[in-house]
Amino acid sequence: MNVRLACLRVLQQIVQQGQNLDNALDGILPQLDQVRDQALLQHLCYGVIRWYPQLDFLLGQLLHKPLKKKDADLRLLLLLGLYQLRFSRIPAHAAVGETVAVTQSLNKAWARGMVNAVLRNYQRQQAELDIKLEQDAPARTAHPAWLLTHLQQAWPDQWEAIVEANNTQAPMSLRVNRRLGTRDDYIKRLAAAGLEARAAAHGDSGVILAEPCPVDRLPGFAEGQIAVQDVAAQLAAPLLDPQPGDRILDACAAPGGKTAHLLEQQPAVQELVALDIDSRRLERIAQNLSRLNLQATRLVGDAARPDDWWDGQLFDRILLDAPCSATGVIRRHPDIKLHRRQRDIPALCATQHAMLLALWNLLKPGGTLLYATCSILPEENRQQVEHFLAAVDNARHVALPTGWGHAQSAGQQILPGEDDMDGFYYARLVKTS
Ligand SMILES: C[S@@+](CC[C@H](N)C(=O)[O-])C[C@H]1O[C@@H](n2cnc3c(N)ncnc32)[C@H](O)[C@@H]1O
Repeated sequence: MNVRLACLRVLQQIVQQGQNLDNALDGILPQLDQVRDQALLQHLCYGVIRWYPQLDFLLGQLLHKPLKKKDADLRLLLLLGLYQLRFSRIPAHAAVGETVAVTQSLNKAWARGMVNAVLRNYQRQQAELDIKLEQDAPARTAHPAWLLTHLQQAWPDQWEAIVEANNTQAPMSLRVNRRLGTRDDYIKRLAAAGLEARAAAHGDSGVILAEPCPVDRLPGFAEGQIAVQDVAAQLAAPLLDPQPGDRILDACAAPGGKTAHLLEQQPAVQELVALDIDSRRLERIAQNLSRLNLQATRLVGDAARPDDWWDGQLFDRILLDAPCSATGVIRRHPDIKLHRRQRDIPALCATQHAMLLALWNLLKPGGTLLYATCSILPEENRQQVEHFLAAVDNARHVALPTGWGHAQSAGQQILPGEDDMDGFYYARLVKTS
């Protein structure tokens, strides 16, 4: 398949069918034979989705009348053309020519002239369009209006850095299994394999690659010496601090990144129960743990309804890595800009509150619950924890180590891009009686 046509198919699945970017891309990537074409497809799909709100605005200025519903494919094709002209290093004549040629594969040869004219007009009118863009904050920042307003209110001094980070490709980060070797040694092994990398600023296991690369090029990957994981996510296991003999619950565990790290950090736990509501995602925990040679008890169940799956034995420590808006990981999953709606937030908050209340009953007196999200919205984080502390009388909030993120009245917030980390929130709660 031609790369632009493949990209259009991925975009259709995301925009018209509501699929997530990774799944849509995984389905179509194997249809391209050349590694170079696969890399270009990935670049184009991520780029168009990352800049979608801005490209959409520009297209609105360029079209004299909206396209018909049955020509939604042409609209996406035009966005792809605009992306290449505005953000890629592809020579303009090739970008326009290749994009126009896709009309043929769509059996819409009649649209050749229109696609060509819109893209050429963009080139001619770019300076005026840029002035218009400056006056439209959601388009300029390529963020939906509701989210931009939310970020401006929640982070008045940081929102510009946040949107910039969200529009920048995230680095590929690794977690070194320190039971099998030191981080410094692994960085030397990477160098010997021709891969430049440096130690992460926080935690003791994170390595940041200068350039992303396929996992099978990473030394020791198949043997479980490393896992791919953002550095902010690597803070969870040390913060929960599992001890020998502990019974631990990882309540929203799939695909098991933090489960594995907890077990690497403390192999002498009595049991680690990895729970997830999604049985297919739970299967991915099995695959990940098997590569890393680790074991956990896997359960399918709803964290907010322990009566359906809990055996009645209390836990020493619980990790609640709750489902959330994922507004802290937009740089890795730019399709969140399209899929997340303002109305999702109250429903997510209600789920998180129900999970906190339900899981609290499963914790031993003196036990610790670590609440985590990859959100940067206060209502899912600080306000959520404050709401919980007001609802129960046997919970104490314990401050986290300083040195990273922004200390809140409850918990600590990392914003996207800070020290090369994803946006993440952690709060540590101890049961007093
Ligand atoms: C942020 S992801 C967890 C990532 C995981 N902790 C890791 O580090 O790899 C949230 C997970 O919560 C699961 N989930 C959503 N609602 C749930 C519920 N009611 N009970 C249990 N798991 C749930 C989702 O299926 C998803 O796998």
